[in-house]
Amino acid sequence: MPVLLNHDLKGLPISLAQLKRRGETLLQICNCPASELSIALVDDRQMAVINEQYRNKKGPTNVLAFAMQEGEGGDLAPEILGDVIISIDTAAKEAAKDEVSLHRRVTILLIHGLLHLLGYDHERSDAEAELMAAKEQEILAQLLKKERRGQMVSLAINVDHVATLRQARGINEPDPVLAAGICELAGAQGIVVHLREDRRHIQDRDVRILRQTVKTKLNLEMGAAREIIDIALEIKPDMVTLVPEKRKELTTEGGLNVAGQKKSLKGVIAQMSKAGIPVSLFIDPDSRQIVAAKEIGATFVEIHTGRYCDAASEQERDHEFDLIATAAEEAYELGLRVNAGHGLNYLTTQRVAALGTIEELSIGHAVMARAIMVGLDQAVREMVALLPK
Ligand code: PXP
Repeated sequence: MPVLLNHDLKGLPISLAQLKRRGETLLQICNCPASELSIALVDDRQMAVINEQYRNKKGPTNVLAFAMQEGEGGDLAPEILGDVIISIDTAAKEAAKDEVSLHRRVTILLIHGLLHLLGYDHERSDAEAELMAAKEQEILAQLLKKERRGQMVSLAINVDHVATLRQARGINEPDPVLAAGICELAGAQGIVVHLREDRRHIQDRDVRILRQTVKTKLNLEMGAAREIIDIALEIKPDMVTLVPEKRKELTTEGGLNVAGQKKSLKGVIAQMSKAGIPVSLFIDPDSRQIVAAKEIGATFVEIHTGRYCDAASEQERDHEFDLIATAAEEAYELGLRVNAGHGLNYLTTQRVAALGTIEELSIGHAVMARAIMVGLDQAVREMVALLPK
């Protein structure tokens, strides 16, 4: 057990599994994968007691490190590095001040403590302080890179518009099922359909056949209405994405208010989980919604990219992009899987796709609009080509 994690705090707002994994990855990065590291998470009250007892200092601090080698008989078990003690209360205040997620701040404090255990000490001289700060940055960059390696962003194509065209004529073509097959052959790694309560485009028959024909991953987008929930539970798509649904809207307009309807959404997630169906919640890039999604057991969040895509100026677009990047980071660090979509086109996709935190992009309109001009196969291939390899 190279990383031991201890705490007696209730309702910690971070993922302990992820913190433990990070501890293990940090040991690898620091070339001591077989060493044992103990991490203790405490509150400010507990930290103040430790600070007074061992350092004769009043009040809490953010992190303390006690190297095993320092103590009596420290050379008896060289594989045991020692303890890093982190105050979650102080870390939370620092995270808010630095505008980073709590996970990120705790990770930085953990790296700081670990470097102390490995012999670095910023209190010895200015030169050592500079060296230690540079090392912290280097290790954090390595950690983030390592965590994301192997996670390629994939493209899921929404074929609702093919059904919209079919419904306009009330006949049986074009068929979204055939379109889905062409998208998959062109490199799409998922198919998305939205079964609306008013059945304006996708029909029950489409979802049933797609369940049998989709070779990649079928993501059923849906409002949390009883009738549609029952269909999902019966058909068992590979995942569902819950969206707010209004009959009068042209397309899904805003993200779900997860924080405002935790109880009902938690019930839907529990039902889906029982049937083995992971749930994604379509949300605006908003910290409150992310934390609520984690609390009620969502597996994924899909971050709404609409405002970024619709921005009227470059300045506004940059601002909206920053909101998406920060939200994706926060969700990722909370241990949620992160998708994104809505309004993405051949100009706006690349920047979002390059965020290392996003797993899948859900794109419909832009690809279908281009498909009318150049063919569906080519339109999908051109979008796939925009994703980082
Ligand atoms: N994600 C969600 C949750 C959606 O509702 C939609 C639209 O159906 C999309 C992604 C795809 O949006 P667009 O068609 O603008 O690419």
